[in-house]
Amino acid sequence: MLAPLTHLALHCRRKGTGLGAFNVIHLENAESIVEAAERLDVPVVLQISENAVKFHGGRLAPLARGVLALAEQSSSRACVHLDHAKDTGLIREAIGLGFTSIMYDGSHLPDEQNRAETARVAGWCLDAGVSLEAELGEVGGKDGVHAPGARTDPDDAARFVAETGVDLLAVAVGSSHAMTERTAQLDLDLIGRLAETVPVPLVLHGSSGVSDESMVAAIRAGMTKINVSTHLNHVFTRTVRQVLDEHPEMVDSRKWAGPGYRAMTDEVARLLELYSTAG
Ligand code: G3H
Ligand code: ZN
Repeated sequence: MLAPLTHLALHCRRKGTGLGAFNVIHLENAESIVEAAERLDVPVVLQISENAVKFHGGRLAPLARGVLALAEQSSSRACVHLDHAKDTGLIREAIGLGFTSIMYDGSHLPDEQNRAETARVAGWCLDAGVSLEAELGEVGGKDGVHAPGARTDPDDAARFVAETGVDLLAVAVGSSHAMTERTAQLDLDLIGRLAETVPVPLVLHGSSGVSDESMVAAIRAGMTKINVSTHLNHVFTRTVRQVLDEHPEMVDSRKWAGPGYRAMTDEVARLLELYSTAG
């Protein structure tokens, strides 16, 4: 069933477990994520990013309606989340479609403007009963707050939450987006200090670059929502490539999409088990 992100994240934070949040590019990804969550009987987040919407020619509704239907029909509690949204028009559209969570990404804006815009979006989300995730302004590097060297200051983070009213906060603790090797070095001491100082659940972006051992340690230190995209894309594409290499005569897309779907489902289930037993 469809669930608000705050409920799922607060539940996981109380238990000291991680909440898996996986990106959906095409509908098969959402089917994998829902099937894996049901297999484990755990809550899950299905996220559609602004970039994924661009891939679909700027159209959010067709994919979103399918993902929302899968979440509604699921026996697991599932949140449908708009990820890394900079476009406030898209945020309005997602709220109208029935998304249960939004990430407003104002990290590219000057700090003061990010705070003001985030607080404005928080007002819309509050009125609509939708959860809001956000992040502090750009700290450095082309990957902004998700550059490996970027760090979130705990007191600044607590001030940001108090000023804006966000429900979850994405923090910079050593991960970086789109890594294809799982070699990121997380600052566990900082995660612990952030978890003590910041009153809302913490979000780790760029989790594809984090090893299983580091992720368990990060969840134990206080990380809650774990965002994974690139790693699952890798699993899906690697499987499809192998099937097509072995069967160059194949034309029926179900024959290669099926193995990709099953490989991604198994990996999401493996990650969900890791996160939900880490505490
Ligand atoms: O918002 C989505 C994530 O931060 C995914 O990052 O592709 O590096 O796993 P990733
Ligand atoms: Zn991200």
